[in-house]
Amino acid sequence: MTERRNMLVTSALPYANGDIHLGHLVEYIQTDIWTRFQKMRGHECYYVCADDAHGTAIMLKAEQLGISSEQLIEQVKARHQKDFGDFLISFDNYHSTHSEENRHFSELIYKTLRANGNIVTREITQAFDPEKNLFLADRYIKGTCPKCKTDDQYGDNCEACGATYSPVDLINPKSAISGATPVKKESTHYFFKLPAFTDFLKQWTRAGHVPTEIANKLSEWLDGGLQEWDISRDAPYFGFEIPDAPGKYFYVWLDAPIGYMASFKNLCDREGIDFDSYWRSDSSAELYHFIGKDIVNFHALFWPAMLADAGYRTPTRICVHGFLTVNGKKMSKSRGTFINARTYLDHLHPEYLRYYFAAKLSSGIEDLDLNLEDFINRVNSDLVGKVVNIASRCAKFIEKGHDGILSNTIAEPELWQKAVGAADTIANAYENREFGRAVREIMAIADAANEYIAGKEPWKVAKEAGREAEVQGICSMGINLFRALMIYLKPVLPEMATNAEQFLNDPLGWQGDIQPLLGHHINPFIPLMQRVDQDKVDAMLNASREALPPAEEAPKSTGPLADEPLAAEISFDDFIKVDLRVARIVKAAAVEGADKLLQLTLDIGGETRTVFSGIKSAYKPEDLEGRLTVMVANLAPRKMKFGMSEGMVLAAGDKSGIYLLEPDSGAEPGMRVV
Ligand code: MSP
Ligand code: ZN
Repeated sequence: MTERRNMLVTSALPYANGDIHLGHLVEYIQTDIWTRFQKMRGHECYYVCADDAHGTAIMLKAEQLGISSEQLIEQVKARHQKDFGDFLISFDNYHSTHSEENRHFSELIYKTLRANGNIVTREITQAFDPEKNLFLADRYIKGTCPKCKTDDQYGDNCEACGATYSPVDLINPKSAISGATPVKKESTHYFFKLPAFTDFLKQWTRAGHVPTEIANKLSEWLDGGLQEWDISRDAPYFGFEIPDAPGKYFYVWLDAPIGYMASFKNLCDREGIDFDSYWRSDSSAELYHFIGKDIVNFHALFWPAMLADAGYRTPTRICVHGFLTVNGKKMSKSRGTFINARTYLDHLHPEYLRYYFAAKLSSGIEDLDLNLEDFINRVNSDLVGKVVNIASRCAKFIEKGHDGILSNTIAEPELWQKAVGAADTIANAYENREFGRAVREIMAIADAANEYIAGKEPWKVAKEAGREAEVQGICSMGINLFRALMIYLKPVLPEMATNAEQFLNDPLGWQGDIQPLLGHHINPFIPLMQRVDQDKVDAMLNASREALPPAEEAPKSTGPLADEPLAAEISFDDFIKVDLRVARIVKAAAVEGADKLLQLTLDIGGETRTVFSGIKSAYKPEDLEGRLTVMVANLAPRKMKFGMSEGMVLAAGDKSGIYLLEPDSGAEPGMRVV
C-alpha cells in the first residue's frame, strides 16, 4: 500500500450557454474514471468543477432568449448537472464562476498582481457597435472576405477560402449582433504583464507539468516573446467589475480558472477541509487540471504565472486530451453526429460510452474517434459477451446446487494468480491515464476466464451425479475471476459495479492485495448489462440530425410544394418547436452559378442571417430589399455549395408561381410568428 496522497482534481469549466455534448464528455468521463480510481486506492482526492458563467456570449444569448444572464446561467447549470449526474460523473462539488467565492479570489489575486506591479493600463482601439453600444470581438464582426470576396465571413477568418486577416481588412464590415457598421473607438484596458514571467514559464513548462509535445509547442511562444495579456472588458459585460475601475470587467478567462479555487473553497467550507493546505505555495498536495488541447495557453501560461505571482502553488500537472471525432470526422449537425449528452441518454446507457472512451483513451493528446460500429461491437463483445457472461454462466450453479455458497478453496490457483497478479500493472496504467492499456489487460483476464469455463464445461459436469463439488469449484473460480474483473472495472463502470456488489454480497475494494471470496454467500444473479442495440444508435443519430446533408441547390422543401397532400397531424408541442420570426430582407442578391437561388440577408431584430432561397424565378433581387417576410429562425444551419444557409424563408406556391409570405404592416423584425 502506497502513502495516502492529497489530491485536488478539476475538469475544465463548461460554458453556461450551451448543452453538454459527447465531445465534452471525453474530458468529464476521463477525469471521473481517474478520480474514482484514486479514491478506490484510498487517497484523499477531491474532484471539483463549475459552470463558466461569464462573458459576452452568455450575455447575448440571454438577451436573445429574453431572460437575464443570471436566469440563463441558473437554467443551464441545472441542465449541466443533470447531464453529468446521469453520465455518473461524480463531482465532489459543482459550483459556478458567478459566485461570491469566485469574486473574492478574483479580486484578491488581481489586487496582489497589481501590488506586485504586474498590472498596467493602456488605451486600445477596437471595433465598436454604435447601435448596441458594445465593443465587438473579432467573431462578432462579419463582412466580405478581402481575399476571395465571399460575403458574410467572420472578422478573423474566411470559411470559404481559409484566409486569416484582421477585421479592419473586411470589406463592408457589419456587426453580427445588430447589422450596424462598426466604428473604431478607444478605451482603456488592463493588462497582466505576462512577459515578466517568461523565464519562470520556460522552466515551469519543462519541469514535467505538461506533456512534452505541449511543452514543445509552448516553447515556440516563449521563444517568440510573450505579449501582455488583456484582462479587462468594457461594460456592458456579464462578469465581475474590476476593483477601482468602474465600468471595467474581468475578462472571462481571468476569473474562469480561479473558479477551480472557488469551487474547492465552497466544498471546504461545507465539509471542513483545509483549503490552504491545498493552495499555499509550499503545499504538498497534488493539483491536476484535465483540459482539452484548445485551452492549453490559459492553463499552462497565464494560470501558473498568475498563481505564482499571487503567492499560490502551481499545478502538479496539466492533463491534456485531444478532440472527439465521430466515425472519423469532426462532429457534424448535418450528419447527426453532433450528439448532445441528453440525446445520447434518451437512447443509450451511459456506461457503454464510459467503457468505450476508457478503451480508447491514453495519456496522449491525439484525437479520439467514436466509431459507432466499433462502439456497438466492442461493448457487446467485451462487456456483455466476456465479463457479464462469466457471472451469468456460473451464478446459477452456485445458487441452485449450493445455496449460493462459494467453495472454500480456489480451484485453479495459477489462473487466480494471473488475475490478481495483474493488479499492479492495471493500477499503473490507470495512474498514468493509460486507460486503453488498463482495459486491454483486463480483457485479457476476461478471455482467460472464459477459456477456463469453456474448457471445464460446468453445465456438462453438473449433469453427472457425484460431481457437485467439482461444479462448485469451477463456478466459484469463475465468480472470483468475475469479481477481480469488476474491481478493476469499477472506476469505469460504477453502476454495474454497484449491481455486482449486490450480487456478490461484497464491496468491491482495491486497497492492498485482492483476496478470493471463499465459503462466501452470494445473492441471486441480477442482469448487469444489456446488449447495445443498433436500432437505438440509429434512433440517437436521427434525433441528432437536425439538417440534411450538403446540397447544391435549395433543398426540395424550401421550394413551394405543388399538389401536396396534407402532412401527418402533429401536436402543438411539435409545432411550437418551430421558431418563426418576422424578418426584414436587408439585401437580396443572385448567386453566381445557381439558377434558382437568391442569397438573402435577413434582419430578425438584432441578428443578421444569411439564407439561400429558391425563389429567383419569381422575384428580382432589388424588389425584395426592404420587404418583410417570415423565416424559420431555429433551423439548423445547412452547408450549401455557395455558403452556409441559416434558416428558411416561407413562401407559398405551386406550378403557377411562388409567393413570398409577408406579415401585415406594423410587424417588426424579430417578432415571433405563432
Ligand atoms: N469555459 C472554457 C473552459 C474554462 S476552464 C477554466 C471552455 N469551455 S467549453 O465548454 O468550451 O469546453 C469545456 C472542455 O471540453 C474543454 O476542456 C474543451 O477542450 C473540452 N471539449 C469541448 N469540445 C470537445 C470535443 N469535441 N472533444 C473533446 N473535448 C472537447 O473551454
Ligand atoms: Zn475568403
